[in-house]
Amino acid sequence: MNDTFLKACRGEEVPYTPIWIMRQAGRYLKEYREVRGKSNFLTMCKTPELAAEVTLQPIDILNVDAAILFSDILIPCEAMGQGLDFHEGKGPILSPAIRDEETVNKLYVPDPEDKMKFVPDAVRLLRKELADRVPLIGFAGAPFTTATYMIEGGTSKNFLNTKRMIYECPELYKKLMDKITATITEYLKAQISAGAQAVQIFDTWGGIFCPSDFRENALTYVQSIIGDLKKAMASGSIEEVPIIYFVGESAGLLEEIKTSGADVHGVDWRINLDDAISRLGENAVVQGNLDPLSMFLPQEKIEIRVQDVLSRAKSAGGHIFNLGHGVVPETPRDNVIALVEMVHKHSRR
Ligand code: CP3
Repeated sequence: MNDTFLKACRGEEVPYTPIWIMRQAGRYLKEYREVRGKSNFLTMCKTPELAAEVTLQPIDILNVDAAILFSDILIPCEAMGQGLDFHEGKGPILSPAIRDEETVNKLYVPDPEDKMKFVPDAVRLLRKELADRVPLIGFAGAPFTTATYMIEGGTSKNFLNTKRMIYECPELYKKLMDKITATITEYLKAQISAGAQAVQIFDTWGGIFCPSDFRENALTYVQSIIGDLKKAMASGSIEEVPIIYFVGESAGLLEEIKTSGADVHGVDWRINLDDAISRLGENAVVQGNLDPLSMFLPQEKIEIRVQDVLSRAKSAGGHIFNLGHGVVPETPRDNVIALVEMVHKHSRR
């Protein structure tokens, strides 16, 4: 088994730096577009055989050191009772937007093995199909990032409705966040019970806050999830697996983020990795942090950036190479294949 990813997460010695790529199963792969052409995105998420098929594509094509379950962070919103659809070119649509007491009260905390059974089913199928070739990462959105989609009804530019709820109706926001937090906690436990060997919590929009607002309105809920998972791991009710916390635009928030309780912290490209490590603390284990759009550079320039990231990671307790955010659909696939080779080659000890 290739366990370099799990070893790096635990801060153990590895023969080379492991790499996987956020959104590695996606539209930049013609193999993905082929499956996607015959189906729609939500159907793919809800059909374990299709989800498993596209999860495995980047393992064969890129030679990455971990698989990430093909799904979406918005799946739990639908299971909580909100309508979810993905419109071609427009992104996700959630309806009705959750903005008042009545819509919050109608949401429930679902049993993931009932309302989202296709997710743990896909995990179980993938563990069989992977046969320990590489570890499988499960994931969920962080409560705050999930809440932005539920409150805005989709993607947003300035998160006006979300911040208005936080500032004008803090009790309502807390009520919503408590429901989302309970949902995500159970959802991650179900993925781990089904066989996920690590989990990543995506807080893509955490960077819209000043540090104190981030702590109060986003981080607290992540700490609660991680605390619950760690307790369940300590009691033996779920397997002990690494927890990765990724926050987008986190450079102003690292002193807060280091208290998350996660084993690994995902860092984007807006900060040098050595700076991030010194602020996260001596033995911090980090994941990142190449600009996803640097994949459009000529390969010899990508290579220089790879070596730069690897050398800046030397002070870390452990390093998992990744992009600082998801790979975009227009990305030249050959550059992504080359990136994986470069990371393996230049980090070999
Ligand atoms: O990383 C992986 O390969 C696993 C699969 C994965 C997807 N979404 C597949 C997807 C993961 C981990 C996600 C997480 C996700 N989803 C996040 C957090 C990470 C990030 O990128 O910031 C967020 C914010 C979402 C919400 C979401 N899903 C949006 C806003 C959109 C529309 C924008 C877009 O890229 O099309 C999606 C759709 C989506 N999720 C696609 C994929 C492959 C594209 C769907 C398609 O094939 O048309």
